Amino acid sequence: MDISDILYTPISTSPYPADFNVNELRQWAADVYPQWEKYPLHLPQSDGGFMDLKKPDFVNNMQEHYGENYAWDVTRGMTKGKYQNDFDKLFPNFIEWICSTYELQPEDLYGFLFISMRPDPVREQWHEDHDSFGYRFYLDLPDGDDNPLMLWPTKKKYETNIDLRKDILGIDPNVMDGNYAYAKKFVTESICQKEKVKAPYPKNLTAYHLNNSSTLHSVQWNKPHPKRLTGFVEVKENTPGMKEKHIDFIKRCAEKYNDYVVRWSND
Ligand SMILES: [Fe+2]
Repeated sequence: MDISDILYTPISTSPYPADFNVNELRQWAADVYPQWEKYPLHLPQSDGGFMDLKKPDFVNNMQEHYGENYAWDVTRGMTKGKYQNDFDKLFPNFIEWICSTYELQPEDLYGFLFISMRPDPVREQWHEDHDSFGYRFYLDLPDGDDNPLMLWPTKKKYETNIDLRKDILGIDPNVMDGNYAYAKKFVTESICQKEKVKAPYPKNLTAYHLNNSSTLHSVQWNKPHPKRLTGFVEVKENTPGMKEKHIDFIKRCAEKYNDYVVRWSND
């Protein structure tokens, strides 16, 4: 099995620690990032963008780049290897859950972030993310068993997301902001296959892997997902041995959840 063929696999359906309360996490996020209260305070900028007056510096800069078109609210529990806003003191068992779920040691973590959808996104945003391990989790399951995560496989199979980005940039040099590639329609038409795929969803799914090299992803756009709360784990991918561990790990997950795996194919 070549894991570059795996576009998506569940990683775990393990429950969160018994004392973990997602509402406490939402409250923490709202405290450190008041935009989560859904009452953003924005100042229009001369370049047409927006300055978010409440946003702490460590929160990503996507909203400034995309203004109100950016669909997500993002806040971080760890950035560049450092915990943020007492996350480690408030939610130690959740950090243990991350480590045991992804078979990591605390020192392997580079960051983790939480993402909720803004109430009024204006359009679909097909993109790939910056990390190559693609470790994601759901904190709040959206819409019962209806997973709104959509994948759009690329025509070519890429070994790394750097290779994919080269092709995207070749078509649209303005697509990138920092590490985020948001592909416009003429880009997706050129690099993606005909069919989009809905990510299958085992009961009680908590964690999953997303390939950022040979697929773009987005969220089903025809209905709002106000409660959907996803997380994103960044790993020190360049630590010696880490890549091999990751490959072995994803292979075992794909075997375990074989019925739910989305694979790349060129038909
Ligand atoms: Fe993403």
